[in-house]
Amino acid sequence: SMFRSMESVLRRAADARYFSSGAAPERKVAILGAAGGIGQPLSLLMKLNPLVSQLSLYDIAGTPGVAADVSHINTAAQVAGFAGEDQLGEALKDSDIVIIPAGVPRKPGMTRDDLFNINAGIVKSLCSAIAKHCPHALVNMISNPVNSTVPIAAEVFKKMGTYDEKKLFGVTMLDVVRAKTFYAAKAGVPVANVNVPVVGGHAGITILPLFSQATPSVNSLSHEDIKALTKRTQDGGTEVVEAKAGKGSATLSMAYAGAVFADACLKGLNGVPDVVECSFVQSNITELPFFASKVRLGKNGVEEVYGLGPLSDFEKQGLESLKEELKASIEKGIKFAKEN
Ligand code: NAD
Ligand code: LMR
Repeated sequence: SMFRSMESVLRRAADARYFSSGAAPERKVAILGAAGGIGQPLSLLMKLNPLVSQLSLYDIAGTPGVAADVSHINTAAQVAGFAGEDQLGEALKDSDIVIIPAGVPRKPGMTRDDLFNINAGIVKSLCSAIAKHCPHALVNMISNPVNSTVPIAAEVFKKMGTYDEKKLFGVTMLDVVRAKTFYAAKAGVPVANVNVPVVGGHAGITILPLFSQATPSVNSLSHEDIKALTKRTQDGGTEVVEAKAGKGSATLSMAYAGAVFADACLKGLNGVPDVVECSFVQSNITELPFFASKVRLGKNGVEEVYGLGPLSDFEKQGLESLKEELKASIEKGIKFAKEN
């Protein structure tokens, strides 16, 4: 134990040197679906992140152009483009983080579950490749329906013997981004200081923003206001799908949210303390096997899954009403992965 405390002192000294000199470990980030509506602006934002040393852009087509374009930006990350399945292994090799925005988006009138038939297969094959070529990478799953694609990924990794529940994340950051924006506007507080946890899943009523825990807290919001903010957050994706009128779903705000979440993962990997964000992860804070809540990110990925904290009666009701749909979506994903 004397050795251990000595080691931790030395490690802290080393970390301090690290951060004061600005140096950070080499990190490779791969984006699968990099030529798409989310993939392109996400590639741009990750090229701007000083914690990224290698940026690997993969899609079935179009990535040479995206990679050439982004690579001219005078930031440190080295960019490489990979197109087509025969280049997937090289794209993934040695990745620390793999971000997956591959798959089809919604059109007006569709639910996220309507994307299942196409996206489940895409996610399954990409995850098999991850298990083969970078089994230790953190996986940030953006492809919808997230409530099912994350369980699919877990099953694929289990089958291939590489599953580590600490390393698989459903990206629900866009729900948090929206809740922060809508809350700040309604409460009349500067958005930069706002935080709102969002728990549950990533579709309709499974998205449960906890405005009772929003900071800074204000007294000016009525129950009707909270109900309206909750509904707007739950329907945020649909609001964008309808406004784009057939041209897809959120891409720019999603790229932002994905870049914020990947940055949090990188900071965690690099040993920055107290990095906490919401994500859809394997969980035992409810009876459901996967659930979004605040998680602390660290050198191994998820270091701690936080409980829900005190809920208002309205939120308690929301929690009970979301469980049936979320459970069904999780089970649908598991069943697909087991049968295919
Ligand atoms: P898009 O159609 O513009 O782009 C998708 C990209 O995936 C395309 O470039 C396509 O070639 C690529 N792709 C398809 N199959 C692939 C494969 N096997 N390997 C690699 N790439 C492949 O769609 P988009 O608007 O970027 O949305 C992508 C996904 O993200 C959709 O499923 C959408 O519903 C989801 N999404 C999730 C969130 C979230 O909050 N988690 C937010 C917005 C969108
Ligand atoms: C979103 O929340 O914007 C995404 O899940 C895309 C969608 O289909 O709504």
